[in-house]
Amino acid sequence: PASATEPPRGDLAVGGVPLAELADRFGTPVYVLDEAEVRDRCRTYRDAFPDAEVLYAAKAFLCRAMAHWMDEEGLGLDVCSAGELELAVTTGFPPEHIVLHGNAKSPRDLGAALRLGVGRIVIDSPSEIARLAAAVGPHGHQKVMVRVVPGVSAGGHDKIRTGTDDQKFGLSISDGYAQHAIARVLDQPQLELTGLHCHLGSQITSVKPYLVAVRRMVGLMARLHEQYGLVLPELDLGGGHGIAYRPGEKALDLTALARRVRTELADACATAGLPVPRLIIEPGRAIVGPAGIALYRVLSVKRTGETVFVAVDGGMSDNPRPALYGVRYAPRLVGRHSGADRARATVVGRHCEAGDVLATDVELPADTHPGDLLAVPVAGAYHLSMASGYNLVGRPPVVAVRNGLARLLVRRESLEDIRSRDVGL
Ligand code: LLP
Repeated sequence: PASATEPPRGDLAVGGVPLAELADRFGTPVYVLDEAEVRDRCRTYRDAFPDAEVLYAAKAFLCRAMAHWMDEEGLGLDVCSAGELELAVTTGFPPEHIVLHGNAKSPRDLGAALRLGVGRIVIDSPSEIARLAAAVGPHGHQKVMVRVVPGVSAGGHDKIRTGTDDQKFGLSISDGYAQHAIARVLDQPQLELTGLHCHLGSQITSVKPYLVAVRRMVGLMARLHEQYGLVLPELDLGGGHGIAYRPGEKALDLTALARRVRTELADACATAGLPVPRLIIEPGRAIVGPAGIALYRVLSVKRTGETVFVAVDGGMSDNPRPALYGVRYAPRLVGRHSGADRARATVVGRHCEAGDVLATDVELPADTHPGDLLAVPVAGAYHLSMASGYNLVGRPPVVAVRNGLARLLVRRESLEDIRSRDVGL
């Protein structure tokens, strides 16, 4: 399989289909998913964590085919809205393999979760406990976990760090809110607490924070055991597994993560006199990120001061990540020899603001010109799932490629789609 540190199966073809052909057939901008690579990545997780439950974090990217592939590959789903949940269930995804997250679940989210029968609901705030218990009803039953903040700082950017007390998710151990919420959950007979959850952050490239989290989570489980005689069968360590966006960048080593988490968990549980809980993990980015390519057409090239601006037909409405997190990509021109003369360029989008930059300080052929095709590798996660309607350009389509065949998964958002939601005048 193509790995993120290599070009995505050469920049001319993906899944056996030339990128130029995909651009001609589906138009640009277009997002291309290498189905075999998505599936390979699922299998890598299943092999590395054979005893764990692996939930794909749907927020990274969800469409019906993706849900279907996850089910076929034996993964469950982590969803955080009724929308993600209901879309997955329409593919026949088994709801018992779905976990619902969210720091502010709406009545619609909880209603859908209970109606469809999700496997677990992860409680994120004290007020949710009574609300959920009431919605479940005195004779109902719902499995839940409690999201705990273990006080571990990790993640690629401040906006995606969730393991410490100064952010909105979860209930902290350090100030006792987690313990208090767990006690309240235990008071609700219709809620069955199956385990504790934590999610440290996203784009984490080192194993260490996960090991610290394991110690802290087992420490809390040990206190709950002493206090209530409680033995929790599950421990969910969330996702956050980092990937390489550019050649030479480091990805989290999944084999090392699996081995060291297993050892740490076994040691911590032995010390605490607890049985080892079943591990749950929730990777999103690492499943789909490296399997996606964004393809754009160059619309203009110009020099301003020292900078060459290469403008393409998409931008921050389909990939807000550079603007939000300052992340860097390694775009390449399709169908050009790497030996050509190079020039430093800034790749910008077509949107009406100067912050609409896709990649800075990249080397592109010196004669890059309108009509060229530009591919942005590692574009599968948190691009289209965070796409916006800015400037009404319409969201790009998603195409899956496999064994030399391409098929449309999600069609381009048309003017008619946009117009049809606009019902007033
Ligand atoms: N589990 C929970 C509870 C989460 O909140 C997340 C991500 C995941 C799992 C999956 O994390 P992953 O394995 O994908 O890192 N928009 C940002 C990333 C936000 C992540 C939010 N939560 C970005 O583009 O980098």
